[in-house]
Amino acid sequence: MTATHSLHTEQLSLAYGDRTVVDHLDLTIPTGKITTIVGANACGKSTLLRAMSRLMAPSSGQVVLDGKDLHRLPTKEVARTLGLLPQSPIAPEGIAVADLVGRGRHPHQKVFARWSAEDEAAVLAALEATDTVALADRAVDELSGGQRQRVWIAMALAQQTDLLFLDEPTTFLDVSHQVEVLDLLTDLNRERGTTIVMVLHDLNLAARYADHLIAVAAGRLHAAGDPVNVLTEATVRDVFGLESQIMVDPTSGKPMMLPIGRHHARASDTAPVS
Ligand SMILES: Nc1ncnc2c1ncn2[C@@H]1O[C@H](COP(=O)(O)OP(=O)(O)O)[C@@H](O)[C@H]1O
Ligand SMILES: [Mg+2]
Repeated sequence: MTATHSLHTEQLSLAYGDRTVVDHLDLTIPTGKITTIVGANACGKSTLLRAMSRLMAPSSGQVVLDGKDLHRLPTKEVARTLGLLPQSPIAPEGIAVADLVGRGRHPHQKVFARWSAEDEAAVLAALEATDTVALADRAVDELSGGQRQRVWIAMALAQQTDLLFLDEPTTFLDVSHQVEVLDLLTDLNRERGTTIVMVLHDLNLAARYADHLIAVAAGRLHAAGDPVNVLTEATVRDVFGLESQIMVDPTSGKPMMLPIGRHHARASDTAPVS
């Protein structure tokens, strides 16, 4: 399967009441690629993902899916095309893991249609991919933060959409599970052509796993493109107000950021004088 859906924003503005959070944003999401979004707290990343998955209407401008205004498309068609794992999803009280993951199948089911073998296979595949098969009968609210996060990712996978948005999917995960989730999303991208857009806090993982890196500052696009061109000392300074040193990640060849901070200096600044 090759994803063909295209998504971009045109002069997109988003507001809560009269407070504008995203301001005239023109953004293109490359089809069939992995895009990561980075930016300081409260700069509008989650708001942007909500608007791109139609949970929030623009105050002006539009989100364009396959040449059409996303907000005018039928709900079920949108739900079959794109899925969002929000930053803090809330599970219905007492729901079992398998049932929550099964809810990812709703957009594929016809009214009054029975649960199909295809639904069953999609749920099992999602549980297997996220290493949550053993949790299938457990109540979601009794799981650890990391287990619960993997279950939410399973639900997003079960939806089998061509576009998948994830808002900080590695939150609550220890480092090995973070890498596992990002590897899994990479598999999904490579094997199914799924277009993946995710907000990540860890700049180094964001640069390593991205084909396309977007840096947002105060609701505006600061830089977008190949991580090598986006993750620079200037970007880190402008977007996060932080001095840093960019090196080449010896494992992936992607840029890697080391924060400097007030108590440490650049190695070159402190080299002993001989
Ligand atoms: N439901 C809401 N009502 C009012 N303001 C909100 C709401 N959600 C987010 N905001 C505000 O919008 C701004 C951007 O928030 P958000 O998109 O969550 O930022 P990020 O995900 O980049 O941390 C913040 O100032 C936040 O307080
Ligand atoms: Mg957020």
